[in-house]
Formats: sequence, C-alpha cells, structure tokens
Amino acid sequence: MACSIAPGKVILFGEHFVVKGKPAIGAAVNVYAKACAGPGRGVVESRQLGLLLDLDSGRVLDKGLLRVYQELSSRIGLTKDFHVIIDSEIPMAAGMGSSAAVAVSTAHALAALKGLDPDKKLIWEVSFEAEKVYHVKPSGIDNTLSTYGGVLYYQGGEFKRVEVKWPDDIYLLIVDSGVKRSTGQVVEDVLRRYEKYHRVMSGIYDAAGALVEEALKALERGDFARLGELMDINHGLLVSLGVSTPLLDSLIWAVREAGALGAKICGAGRGGVIIAIVDEAKLPKVLDKISQQGRKPMVARIDSEGVRRS
Ligand code: MEV
Repeated sequence: MACSIAPGKVILFGEHFVVKGKPAIGAAVNVYAKACAGPGRGVVESRQLGLLLDLDSGRVLDKGLLRVYQELSSRIGLTKDFHVIIDSEIPMAAGMGSSAAVAVSTAHALAALKGLDPDKKLIWEVSFEAEKVYHVKPSGIDNTLSTYGGVLYYQGGEFKRVEVKWPDDIYLLIVDSGVKRSTGQVVEDVLRRYEKYHRVMSGIYDAAGALVEEALKALERGDFARLGELMDINHGLLVSLGVSTPLLDSLIWAVREAGALGAKICGAGRGGVIIAIVDEAKLPKVLDKISQQGRKPMVARIDSEGVRRS
C-alpha cells in the first residue's frame, strides 16, 4: 500500500487575473487530501463521495481521475490493477484546490505503487492534464501549489518560491461560506465579461498585475499591514469581475469590522471560502464575529513541502 498526501491551497492575490497571464501569489496550506493505492481492479473511491472510477465497468464519475490514470499509463506503464482510496479534509468546490490536491495525491500514490520515487515534475504534468478536464483554461496554480508547497509567485506557468517569514502572531483565517460552485463555470463567466468589456477590463487586469507586484514586496518585507490593505484592494477588483456575492461580502465585512488586516474571496468566488489575515491582538474579536455568523473558521499554516508519502 502506498499513501500520499497533497496540500490544499489559498490564493493570496491574483486569482482569475492569472488565467489571462497576470501574476498571482498562492500558498499551500496544512489541509490535505490523502490517497492510498494498493492492488485491485482499477477502482478509485472517495471516503466522502463514494465511487469515482471503475475501469472494468467503465463507470467514470470523475473524468479528471480517469485522465490521471491515462497519463500514468502512457508515461510510466501503469496497469489497471490498482485500488485507490481517497480521504480529503479539503472543502470541495470551495476555492481551496481540492480537485487539484486529489489529482496530485492520487498520481503520487499510484506512481509510488508502481515502485517509483515519484518525480515532482511528472506529478505536476499529470495533475495539470487532470485540471484541464475540470476546466477549459486552468492557470495551473492549484496543482503547482499542491505539488511543490510553499508560497509561490506564479506567472504564465513559471513559478518562483517566495521566502516569507510568516510571524507567529499573524494568522491566516479561512472561512467557508458553505456555497459550492464550479470553478470552470465561474472562470468561463469571467472570461465572457473580459471579452465583452475588453477596454475596461484590460485596465482592471493591469491593476491586478501591479497589485501582485506590490504584494510580493510586502510579503518579502514582512509588512502584513500593507499586505492586508492590498488584500482589500484585490477583493475590490474581484468584485468588478462579478465573482462576489452578498454572503461573501458580508463575511468579508464582518472580519474587517472586527479588526482583520485585510480580507478577500479566495479562488473562483461565487461561493467557497474567504481568507483574511489577522493580528493576534484582534483574533478573539474576529473569531467571535465569525462564530456569531454560525461559521467555524480554519486557522491555517503554510505547508512548505507539497505532495509526499505519508
Ligand atoms: C482557482 O483556484 C483559481 C482561478 O484563478 C482559476 C485558475 O487559476 O485556474 C479562478
């Protein structure tokens, strides 16, 4: 039996804009998808969702995982004699890269079952093919973060690790709105708006690119007050793309009013999670405000390793 874990992610800055080649900054976080592969008959199942793939009967409930199998079959000669069980603690369809982490951990566990010490480049390539099945124009940021971990500055398929000394008294909060949505659908709607108002939108996209450069400097300097303000601006730009909702805005305003340094949608939007950075002194008030809204925030830490055997 070979088990692998792969982290979920948050996008600190630049989601959506990254699909059109602007930079983004994301962080892998300590919330994981785990895949365990053993001998079997070409089946992948999930503890949360049940059967996802059965090659013998041709039942394909997750086309991305079928692609993972096909890619590994042509690249490393994977045969159909496996059984994979996935157990994921990453909220699904919520902006935390759950589908990417599932593809990454499954590819890693299957390659390990084949006796390989899986090369991260192979896992990245295979999981990117799966991401293409989930939505037409993935930037690749989700599977990159899940594969390599850390805080990454990402642009046009290239990434660079950002050395961040994240202070112990600054918290990264993640609050799930509980609303599920399809990343692919939201990305398509945003691209449609981009085409329809091209002149207006290209200015907004340029501003998003400049914002990410400022955020990178603030992160490297450890200036979290500035980073928070930049998060607020980033949220404003995402609102202009049409991906916020009254519920997401109300969560964001709740944490801001309770003293968060900044807050924004994370990932595709229209539902899913919001993220905030919060100073220790303000944490009790922010947590109180969130629980008054009936939510339980996650307090996350950066995962700096990415996918690995577990
Ligand atoms: C999804 O986590 C982030 C988006 O920018 C889509 C992508 O980058 O592929 C919305």
